[in-house]
Amino acid sequence: MTDASSTPAIPVTIHRGDYRPPEWQVPDVALDFALGIEETRVSAALSVQRTTDGPAPLLLRGDGLTPAAVRVDGEVWNDWRMDGSDLIVDLGERTAAVVEIDTVVNPAANTQLMGLYASNDMLCTQCEAEGFRRITFHPDRPDVLSRYRVRMAGDKTRFPILLSNGNCIDRGEGDGGTHWALWEDPWPKPSYLFALVAGDLVANRDSFTTMSGRTVELGIWVRAGDEDRTGHAMQALKNSMRWDEEVYGREYDLDLFNIVAVGDFNMGAMENKGLNIFNTRYILADPDTATDMDYDGVEGVVAHEYFHNWSGNRVTCRDWFQLSLKEGFTVYRDQCFSADMGSAAVKRIEDVRLLRAAQFPEDAGPLAHPIRPDSFQEISNFYTATVYNKGAEIIRMMATMVGPERFRKGTDLYFERHDGEAATCEDFVRAIEDGAGIDLQQFRRWYEQAGTPRLKLSLVEEAGQWSLDIVQTVPPTPGQPEKQPMMMPLRLAAFAMDGSGAHLADTLVTISGATQRIALGRFAVRPALSVNRGFSAPVIVDFARAPGELAWLAAHDDDPFARYEALQQLMLDTLVAAVSGKDRDPQTVIDAVAQTLSGRAADPAFVAEAVLLPSEAFIGDQMLTVDPDAIRRERLALQAAIGAALESEWRAILDGAAPPATDLSRGAKGGRRLRGVALAYLAATGMDDAAALAFRVFSQADGMTERQAALATLAHGDSDERAHALDIFYQRYRDNPLVLDKWFQVQAWSVRPDTVDAVRALAQHPDFTLTNPNRVRALYGALTGNQAAFHQADGAGYRLIADLVIALDPKNPQTAARMIPPLGRWKRFDERRQALMKAELERILAQPGLSRDTTEQASKSLL
Ligand code: ARG
Ligand code: ZN
Repeated sequence: MTDASSTPAIPVTIHRGDYRPPEWQVPDVALDFALGIEETRVSAALSVQRTTDGPAPLLLRGDGLTPAAVRVDGEVWNDWRMDGSDLIVDLGERTAAVVEIDTVVNPAANTQLMGLYASNDMLCTQCEAEGFRRITFHPDRPDVLSRYRVRMAGDKTRFPILLSNGNCIDRGEGDGGTHWALWEDPWPKPSYLFALVAGDLVANRDSFTTMSGRTVELGIWVRAGDEDRTGHAMQALKNSMRWDEEVYGREYDLDLFNIVAVGDFNMGAMENKGLNIFNTRYILADPDTATDMDYDGVEGVVAHEYFHNWSGNRVTCRDWFQLSLKEGFTVYRDQCFSADMGSAAVKRIEDVRLLRAAQFPEDAGPLAHPIRPDSFQEISNFYTATVYNKGAEIIRMMATMVGPERFRKGTDLYFERHDGEAATCEDFVRAIEDGAGIDLQQFRRWYEQAGTPRLKLSLVEEAGQWSLDIVQTVPPTPGQPEKQPMMMPLRLAAFAMDGSGAHLADTLVTISGATQRIALGRFAVRPALSVNRGFSAPVIVDFARAPGELAWLAAHDDDPFARYEALQQLMLDTLVAAVSGKDRDPQTVIDAVAQTLSGRAADPAFVAEAVLLPSEAFIGDQMLTVDPDAIRRERLALQAAIGAALESEWRAILDGAAPPATDLSRGAKGGRRLRGVALAYLAATGMDDAAALAFRVFSQADGMTERQAALATLAHGDSDERAHALDIFYQRYRDNPLVLDKWFQVQAWSVRPDTVDAVRALAQHPDFTLTNPNRVRALYGALTGNQAAFHQADGAGYRLIADLVIALDPKNPQTAARMIPPLGRWKRFDERRQALMKAELERILAQPGLSRDTTEQASKSLL
C-alpha cells in the first residue's frame, strides 16, 4: 500500500455547524475484489447522481490509496486530481455518471485494522467510521446511502468462505484454483456498514422464524476448532431477535444473518448489515475458558450489534456528530435486553459502576464533550463512554419520564419517520416529543452541555412538614464555561426510621431549575431519604447523611439499587475519612455488610455486588487531590477488617460446594460471584492459610469463573502458590489467546508494589505483541486501571504508558490514542505527579509523524 496520505501535519478541526448535504448521491455501488493477503485489487463502479442545480466536483475520499485507473461511463477519464489523499473528479455538466476506479491495497500491511486487513490468514474489513476510504475512493460519509453489489474472487483453499452483506446471489469456479461469489444487499446503506470476509472458516448454523413467519438463516463463523464455543452467542442472537420484536416491534429484514469472529479487532464488534464482525472476545465462550462475566459480555454485545440493524442501519446517522443517535440508543436497548435476560437490579448496578468508572472521569477532565460533540479532529476518538454510556442514560431518562407505553409510541414514530434515512439526534428527540407527548425543549441541553450535573440536597422541616431542597449545578468543561440547569427525572422515596411507618412511596419528580423544593410530607423525625433511585438521572448527588441513616437504608430500602447505593456511600464516606487521616470506626460498615450478607440466599449476585468496596479510582474521584497510595492503603485495610470480622461468613460461603461451571443459571452465576468476593475478603486479611485456600479453589475449579477469581486473588500476594498457579495457568492455556489475555491481565491488576516492573517485564514476554489490541489492553489497559500502580510516585507507570503510545502509534493509532486519557487526568493529582504526567504527554507530542488520533488526544489532554 502506498502511503500517499498519512496524516496532515496540522490537525484540521471539523465542526458540526459546518454540515452541508452531499452534492452527489451514489445510489449504486458495484465492487469487484481480486483477493490476496498481500495484494487485493479493487474495482469500484459508483453510479453517481448530482443533487445540486449547477455543476459540482465529485469529491471522493481516500486514505492511503492511489487511483490506478479512472473511467467515466466506460471511457478513460483524465479530468481528476488528487487533493491530499482525496480524489476530485470533474464531471462537467453531467448530472449522473458511472465512475469506475481501480485501487490496490495490501491487507497484510494494514496494522491499523481499519479498511481491509488480514487477521490469522483471513481477510476482513472494519469501515466505521472512515475505513471504507482505505479500500476505495468514495464520498464515505454516512448520509450517502447505496445499494451494494459485491463480487469477490480468490484462491479456493486459502479463502473457501467468501462473505459480504446481504444475500449471496451467485457463485462459481474461476481459473487457477480460484472461486468467486456475488453478494447483493437490497437495503441502501452508508459505506461504513460495508463488510467483506474471506477465509477458512466454519459455521455454527441455526435459524430464526420472525414474527411474520419468515425464516432467517443464522451463521456464526469462526476458525475450525472454535465452533463449540459459539453456542452462547447463537442463543443470545436468537433471544435478541425475539426481544426486538416483542419490545420494539422490530423484525429482521434479510434472509441471512452472519457473524464472523476475528482475533485482531480494535473495538468490541461491528454491526455491518447482515454481516456483523466481532472481536473473538465477544463470541467465543465455554465454561472452561470464559468467566460468567465474559458470558454476559457476549450476550450484551451480540444483542447490541443485532439491535443496530434498526437503530443504526435502517435509520442511520446523518453525520458523525450524531453518533450517539445510534450508539446511545443501542446501548440503552442492549442494557434493557440484558436486564430482561438476567437480574435487572444487578445489571443496573453494573451499568452505573461502568458509567462512574469511565464516563464521569471523562466528563470531569480535559476531554469532556457533549454526547453530541461540536467538533473533532479524528472521529475515532469520539467512540467514548460519553457518546455510548452517557448517551444511553439520556435515552433512559426520556423513557423514565414518559413511561414504557409512551416511549414505545415515540420510538415507533422515530422508526416510521426515518426508516431509510440518515437522521439526527434532533430527529430522535422530536419523535419522542411527538409520539410520547412531552415537551423536551429544556431536555435538549443534555445533547449540548458536557459535564456531570451535581445535585446538592438538604432536608428542611417546617412544623413537622419535611421537604427536600435541591441546588443543581453543571460544572464548566472545556469550551463551556457557563452552564444552564438540566431537566431530569428524579425518583425518590422517604422512610421514617423511628418505626412509625410514615413513608413517602416511590415518586418521580422532574427537576428543571437551578433550585427546587420538593415536599416530602409529614414525619415526626428526620426521614431517611432514598434518592435517585435506580439511578434515574446520571448525576452526582451531594447529600450528607449520618452512617446510621445509610446503614438503615442499606438494610431496608425497597429499591435494590438504592440499597446498593446506601452501602456504597457508607463505605465511601468511611474510606474518604480514613484517607484524609480522620479516625473512622469501620464497625458500621462491617455490620452493614453482615446484614447484607444475611440476605445472600435470596439473591447472591446482588449481595456480591453490594458488599464490594468502591474502586480505588472512585474513592479518588471524591477527593480534591487524589492520594493513590493512601487510598490503596486504606482500602486494603478496610477490606482486611471486613474480611477478619466476618471470617466465618466468608468461610461458610466458600465451604459450600461450587455450582457446576456448566450451570449458567442466575443462581449459579450469583453463587460463583459471591464465592469470588468471599475469597478476596479472606485473602485480604493475610491470614496464614489464605494462599493455600486460594490455591485450592484454583485447583478444584471446574470452570474459568472460579479459576480466574482465585488466580487474581493469588496474583495480589507473593506466595509460592502464586507463582505455581500462574505457571499452571500459562501452560494450560498458552495456545488460547483470549485466556492468555487473562494471564497478562491478572498480573497487571496486582496490588503488589512491583507491578509496574512486572508489566514492563511482561511486555518482553514472547507471547506479548503490539499487533493484537486485546493483548495490549489486557496488559497496559489493566495497568492504567490499577490506580496505585499507574500513579506510582516516581512516574514509572506514566513512562511505561507513554512508551507504549509512542511504539504503538505508527502501527495502530486508534488503539494507541485510547491509552492517553489516563495521562490526561493530571489536574486531579499532586504537583509532582502533575509534572510527571504532563512531561509524558509532551514527550508523546514531540514524536515526529504522530497520528491525528494521538495528536488530538495528547494535545487536548494538556489543556
Ligand atoms: N459501531 C460499533 C459499535 O457497535 C463500533 C465501531 C467503532 N469502530 C471504530 N473504529 N471506531 O459500537
Ligand atoms: Zn454500537
